[in-house]
Amino acid sequence: MNYRHAFHAGNFADVLKHVVLVMLVEHLKKKPAPFFYLDTHAGRGLYDLSDASAQRSGEYKDGIGRLLEAPPRELVPEVADYVRLVRESAGPGRSAITAYPGSPALVAQLRRPDDRMVLAETLPREAAALRKALGRQRLLSVIESDGYAALKAHLPPRENRGLVLIDPPYESDLEFDRVLAGLGTAHERWPTGTYCIWYPRTGRAGPERFHRELERSGLRRILDMWLAVLPHDARVGMSGAGLVVVNPPWLLEERLRELLPSLHGLLAPEGLGGTGVEWIVPE
Ligand SMILES: C[S@@+](CC[C@H](N)C(=O)[O-])C[C@H]1O[C@@H](n2cnc3c(N)ncnc32)[C@H](O)[C@@H]1O
Repeated sequence: MNYRHAFHAGNFADVLKHVVLVMLVEHLKKKPAPFFYLDTHAGRGLYDLSDASAQRSGEYKDGIGRLLEAPPRELVPEVADYVRLVRESAGPGRSAITAYPGSPALVAQLRRPDDRMVLAETLPREAAALRKALGRQRLLSVIESDGYAALKAHLPPRENRGLVLIDPPYESDLEFDRVLAGLGTAHERWPTGTYCIWYPRTGRAGPERFHRELERSGLRRILDMWLAVLPHDARVGMSGAGLVVVNPPWLLEERLRELLPSLHGLLAPEGLGGTGVEWIVPE
């Protein structure tokens, strides 16, 4: 595997994913019963933005960088919550941050003492960094494992409520097949869980096929949301990013319809690309 998330941490695609992740976790916290969180492709938890990879790509500057520079009044409440978390977890500074928190660090900050987390990461170096970033915590385990195997090993959870984030590197379109197979198995074991799957929008066939396969999957309540910063036919690897949420909380769709255009305005000030919220399969 050549993929290194350090190049991409904090870019527009991470922003979209992490804003929605924070919304999903906040929704779970509305009920007192503990929740379970499984991150199948957890990453290293904290990304040093002064690192050569982050500096070389500079992607975070057009992502979280733009939100940190925006006047607070321009941020809708959910985006403001996310920006506050990033500032808190990533280090001091008024407009500059030194590190960007990954999904495990964001959820670890938000969870309550009885909420449980399992974080799967296949690369030993990344898993070790994740352990170091989060330290020893009650009801939190980092497993050096294939994330798709973790779906089998850890579902259904004893809490019987919670969220699974599936966020693979998509080094090739074959990853969509692994996601579909993993989701099918997971949903069979735990039909009531919420599943959030990140995917890149590219000019390749993979994303479109992914949506068609989801339509045919037999699963219900599949909501798709996306944000693009470039036109779909742009000659770049990734013009936008999307999330598919199976069993989304009530009102997520409505909130996203207001939130995504405002987020897009900040991330793509030239107005290129766009946003969308659509049911792939409704109720
Ligand atoms: C996009 S990054 C994850 C970012 C993280 N979820 C976040 O939002 O901060 C993908 C991660 O998956 C890891 N990975 C790749 N294949 C994997 C697999 N089969 N199982 C678990 N982790 C894998 C990579 O090493 C990389 O750290």
